[in-house]
Amino acid sequence: MGSDRRLIRVLKGESLSPPPLWMMRQAGRYLPEYRQVRKEAGSFLDLCYNPDLAVEVTMQPIRRFGFDASILFSDILVVPHALGRDLRFEEGRGPLMTPIGVSEIADLDVSDFHHRLAPVYETVSRLRQSLPAETALIGFCGAPWTVATYMIAGHGTPDQAPARLFAYSEPEAMDRLIGLLADISADYLLRQIEAGADTVQIFDSWAGVLGEEEFTRFCVKPVARMVATIKERYPDIPVIGFPKGAGSRFDDYRAATGVDGLGLDWTVPLAQARRLQADGAVQGNLDPLRLVAGGDALDRGVDRILERLSDGPLIFNLGHGITPQTPIAHVEAMIARVRARA
Ligand code: CP3
Repeated sequence: MGSDRRLIRVLKGESLSPPPLWMMRQAGRYLPEYRQVRKEAGSFLDLCYNPDLAVEVTMQPIRRFGFDASILFSDILVVPHALGRDLRFEEGRGPLMTPIGVSEIADLDVSDFHHRLAPVYETVSRLRQSLPAETALIGFCGAPWTVATYMIAGHGTPDQAPARLFAYSEPEAMDRLIGLLADISADYLLRQIEAGADTVQIFDSWAGVLGEEEFTRFCVKPVARMVATIKERYPDIPVIGFPKGAGSRFDDYRAATGVDGLGLDWTVPLAQARRLQADGAVQGNLDPLRLVAGGDALDRGVDRILERLSDGPLIFNLGHGITPQTPIAHVEAMIARVRARA
């Protein structure tokens, strides 16, 4: 059954019209029903670790819009949290952690990891039972580099300078951290697959700030290792990579990592996206701000993607997460326009 789902068929190389459609961050603050549950849950992390509520908010965009795929409601930073790092989310400030140092990297403890993430696995298995049969379920994690940037800086920054500097000054500690995150994150994805995920996405939101050598060392190599671990156990489960901002390096990334689907941000030219479709599915890449603007900006953005990419393997999506100020009417207009393309 799983491989009949439209999203999975495209990840295996088929071209479908209309293309399957979902949105990064589709469960979130632009939805009043999400804001309601979020208020009841207390903190954002309480919401992530409560299977009843996490299932509910994952289902909300599926009920409202009938997307072809649903993505587990959680966060990439539950991985360092389950390794014992402190984490909180402050209104308007995003994630806050105590910056990790060299000696703490040596002491990271994986012994309690899966136990602490048991509620996430429970959410995945309940979701597979609650979702419509035709809706694919996407599990996910952050890529080692992107997770490491938050662990090192302790918060979001404009260009992840603290982690880039750390990588140059403490290369051994950095390699150890990236290696540990790659191994434990691959295990984490395997558990999500065992619980019922049809595919998994690896979010490397900060791939674009890396120089040439570092892109290979911290982005491509660890993700390749993760993909190999997954493929060894589950050769039929497709993997989506999203190395945001990788630019001209998207071309090598798929070949070198072995990901089936390539998530493209909105800066990727459609001529390049079309070339990339020769080797497999692409996912993207509407600028989320076109969805905020609506009107001609939205229609033109949707039409250009469909015109250039819909005769190859395409998963229609945004080039990054939907923003909280997005009007729901614009989401409805986007979906109608994509689906009118039968
Ligand atoms: O619907 C979905 O996409 C599933 C859930 C999901 C969340 N975060 C929920 C969330 C997913 C897939 C993520 C991934 C994630 N988290 C990434 C990679 C993708 C990306 O956006 O680049 C990153 C870098 C994070 C770390 C993170 N989490 C940040 C920087 C922030 C603050 C920014 C913000 O939007 O507030 C979060 C918080 C977060 N994660 C929220 C949600 C719904 C908002 C928190 C809230 O509701 O109070």
